[in-house]
Amino acid sequence: MENTMQYPVNMNVHPEVKAFFDPQTNTISYVVKDPGSDSCAVIDSVMDIDYSAGRITYEHADEIIDYIRSEGLKLEWLIETHVHADHLSAAPYIQEKLGGKIGIGDKITVVQDTFGKVFNEGTEFQRDGSQFDRLFKDRDTYQIGGMPAFAIHTPGHTPACMVHVIGDAAFVGDTLFMPDGGSARADFPGGDAGELYDSIQKVLTLPDDMRLFMCHDYGPGGRDIQWETTVGQEKAENIHVGKGTSREEFIKFRTERDATLAVPKLILPSLQVNMRAGEVPTDKDGKPMLKLPVNAL
Ligand SMILES: [Fe+2]
Repeated sequence: MENTMQYPVNMNVHPEVKAFFDPQTNTISYVVKDPGSDSCAVIDSVMDIDYSAGRITYEHADEIIDYIRSEGLKLEWLIETHVHADHLSAAPYIQEKLGGKIGIGDKITVVQDTFGKVFNEGTEFQRDGSQFDRLFKDRDTYQIGGMPAFAIHTPGHTPACMVHVIGDAAFVGDTLFMPDGGSARADFPGGDAGELYDSIQKVLTLPDDMRLFMCHDYGPGGRDIQWETTVGQEKAENIHVGKGTSREEFIKFRTERDATLAVPKLILPSLQVNMRAGEVPTDKDGKPMLKLPVNAL
């Protein structure tokens, strides 16, 4: 088991975290601000889509842009914790308005290769991650103003999943849900329940008082939407991996559960857009156009 003690954890930096909940996709986007400067990062933004109408709009992203402008912040990074299958990223739209670099895990190339085939993309679709400004490897560090940040590779839900740790705040993507939500599915192409378990264990070796911020919450049992917990709480209470659940128990449970789950409503548009760093693909005449591959998933 890899131990996160090898990672450059710094619990003395306390970023200010502002959450933006998207009720259409149950996604939480974040603006993470350096307390010592005006620098900030956006984690996992959302572009709105009315899929049946083929209409894309930017209400959720505009809310984030308005917030950053009204606070007078400088956007340095647009981080994607992974290639989301349930919502479209608004990273390029926000970047165009506010600047900043778009970053994702370097295993994006695996995802691009898999779904380049599913969508029968031609050679013009690059599968080398070059659509992004920065490809993070496990342990890579970066700065947001004066704040130190680093990435932990956490495959299992998808091959390119990364948890981003910024001071005493970790953005877990779909590695973990709130303690009463458990964990995300591991049955997408390239997903693996055993790998997800190992990745979760890495996160759970971070300090107990590390703040954890979820990418999704579905309000299990009808409770209000929540997105923040701690490593200590997850270890004690997580219904899928807490209280010392073994790897074997987790794999069995996760595999059986995943077999019952429906395909996410927005998976086809999401993957086509998100594997391009949030750019909508175009047809031969340059018109924005999405494909619907039949019986390919
Ligand atoms: Fe996801």
